[in-house]
Amino acid sequence: MKILTVVGARPQFIKAAAVSNVIRKHHKEILVHTGQHYDENMSKIFFEELNIPKPDYNLGVGSGRHGRQTGTMLIKLEEIYEVEKPDFVLVYGDTNSTLAGALCASKLLIPVAHVEAGLRSFNMEMPEEQNRVLTDHISNLLFVPTESAEKNLKEEGIKKGVYNVGDVMFDAILNFKKLAESKNEIMEKLSIKGKEYILTTIHRAENTNHIDRLKNIVNALNKCGKTIVLPLHPRTKKYMMDYGLEFNENIKVIEPVGYLEMINLEMNSQKIVTDSGGVQKEAFFMKKPCITMREETEWVETVENGWNKIVGTDTEKILDGILNFTPLSKQKNIFGDGNASGKILKVLDM
Ligand code: UD1
Ligand code: UDP
Repeated sequence: MKILTVVGARPQFIKAAAVSNVIRKHHKEILVHTGQHYDENMSKIFFEELNIPKPDYNLGVGSGRHGRQTGTMLIKLEEIYEVEKPDFVLVYGDTNSTLAGALCASKLLIPVAHVEAGLRSFNMEMPEEQNRVLTDHISNLLFVPTESAEKNLKEEGIKKGVYNVGDVMFDAILNFKKLAESKNEIMEKLSIKGKEYILTTIHRAENTNHIDRLKNIVNALNKCGKTIVLPLHPRTKKYMMDYGLEFNENIKVIEPVGYLEMINLEMNSQKIVTDSGGVQKEAFFMKKPCITMREETEWVETVENGWNKIVGTDTEKILDGILNFTPLSKQKNIFGDGNASGKILKVLDM
C-alpha cells in the first residue's frame, strides 16, 4: 500500500518519528512537509535527532494568515496527490497542515487516516478546534488516543472507522527516553540541577495574541520567585517584542530546543507550566505536576486523574498553581500501552 503522510509543525514531526518508523517496515510511505514550521530548531533538528526520513516533498509554505497558509498548502498538495495517487493520506493532530492534508485528499476521494482524532476543547474560537472537527468529519479512519476522544466522536455521530489505539506520543517517549537521558548537556549548559526549576512553554494563539493574557502570564512567571526554564516559541518571542513585555532574571529564556533536550528538561524539572497540548501529556508521562494556562483542555483525563490543573490566564491563579499544586492521586493508565503505532499499522493492514 502507498501511504502519503502530511506533516508541517513541530509536534507532528515527533508523532511521525514514532509512526513512520513502523509503517515503513510494511508499506511505501511518501512524506510531505508543508513547511509550516521552517526554522532549524522548529523543523530540521527533529528530522536529524529522531532519524525521520527526509521528506519526499517540502512545500515551503511558511508563515502567514490562516487562509493563505492553508490555501497554499491545498494548491500544492493537490498536484502531489495527483502524481503520487496514494491509497491513504495520513495526518496528525490539529494544525493547518492537518486540515489541508485531509481536505485535499477528501476532495480527490482519497481515504484519510487521522491520528489523534476526537480531541475537543469545545472552544470553536481556537483554530485547532476548527481543524480537528473538520478533519474528523472527512476522515475514514480515526485513531483516537483516549476514551473521552472516542466518546466525543460518538456524540458527533462518528462511529465508523474509530479505533482507540492509545497515544502515539507515548510511543515516542518510550522510543527516545534512553537516548534523551544520555544527552543531558543542556542541564550543564544552563547551569541548573535537577528539581531546581520549573519548565515552561507558551505558544497558544489565544494567549500570545491577546496582550492582557500574555501580560498576566509574564507577570505570574516574573513574580513567582522560582527559577524557570523557558524555551521560547518564535510566535511568543514576536508578540513579547510587539507588546514591549520583558521577563525577569529568574527566567532562563532559551531558543526552542530539540525533542531530546526537551525530554531531558521535562524529566529533571520540578513542575511544568504550559499551554501546549503535547507538553501536558509529557508531564503526565514523566509524573510531573502540570499547570495549564488555558481555560480548558482536550486532555481531560490528566485533570480528572489529579495531575493537571487548569488555571487559565489570571496572574493570581497561575501563581497559586505554581506555588501550591500537588497531585493527589496515583496515576491511572490513560494513554494506552505505548504501542499505538503498531495498532495503527494493524488497522491499515485490514
Ligand atoms: C502551530 C499550530 C498549533 C500547534 C503549534 C505547534 C495551527 C493553526 N497552529 O501554531 O496548533 O500547537 O503549531 O508548535 O496550525 N514562526 C517562526 N518560525 C517557524 C515557525 C513559526 O518564526 O519555524 C513564527 C512566525 O512568526 C509565525 C508564528 O511563529 O507567524 C506562528 O506560526 P504558525 O505555524 O502559524 O503557528 P504556531 O503558533 O506555530
Ligand atoms: N518541544 C520541543 N522543543 C521545545 C518545545 C516543545 O521539542 O522547545 C516538543 C514537546 O516536547 C512536545 C511537542 O514539542 O513533544 C509539543 O509541541 P508544541 O507545544 O509546539 O505544540 P502542541 O503540542 O501544543 O500542538
